[in-house]
Amino acid sequence: MLAAAVDDPASLLRTPVVATVHAGAADGRVMVVRAVDRDRATLTFFTDSRAAKVAAVTAAPQVAVVAYDPGARLQFRLGGVAEIAVAGAAVESAWATVPGHARSAYRTLAAPGTPSPDPIATLMEDDGRASFAVLTVTVDSIDWLDLASRGHRRAAYDRASGWRGEWVVP
Ligand SMILES: Cc1cc2nc3c(=O)[nH]c(=O)nc-3n(C[C@H](O)[C@H](O)[C@H](O)COP(=O)(O)O)c2cc1C
Repeated sequence: MLAAAVDDPASLLRTPVVATVHAGAADGRVMVVRAVDRDRATLTFFTDSRAAKVAAVTAAPQVAVVAYDPGARLQFRLGGVAEIAVAGAAVESAWATVPGHARSAYRTLAAPGTPSPDPIATLMEDDGRASFAVLTVTVDSIDWLDLASRGHRRAAYDRASGWRGEWVVP
């Protein structure tokens, strides 16, 4: 379902919350899932290399990715480890998929979160590539919750058991 959502802008599974914990503080933000590799159990996200979340996952890579599909009434809670890449062939090919209009998000003169006198950020002359980063989450666990009217169902899966799921009390 997550893989299918990548190409479905109407799917809320495409925009989960990515939660981090850093220096004792929890944080979360919506991000767009750009790719799903089912065999490697990875999710790919794009971000600004200067963003607070990049420093957070560099210091503490444990993340949770939480999504809800209201049509299917399914919640997905994925636990995993995040990695940041700013260079290399995979980053270059990811950057090539970012359309021109979306590249301006990476061209802000100051880092995301910097106090600014103006709500519209000043953009740099460059193309944004220098601040583009790929955040990859390698999933280690999945908590699946089905809000079925005949009775909620919940299943737990983890990589360590070869993704053999088991029912758990919802
Ligand atoms: C629908 C939606 C999609 C978003 N997609 C992304 C994204 O793909 N990458 C990203 O870095 N931020 C994305 N954002 C912005 C983040 O939620 C967040 O505000 C920003 O990245 C700063 O987060 P940070 O301070 O934790 O780094 C999105 C926000 C919304 C509302």
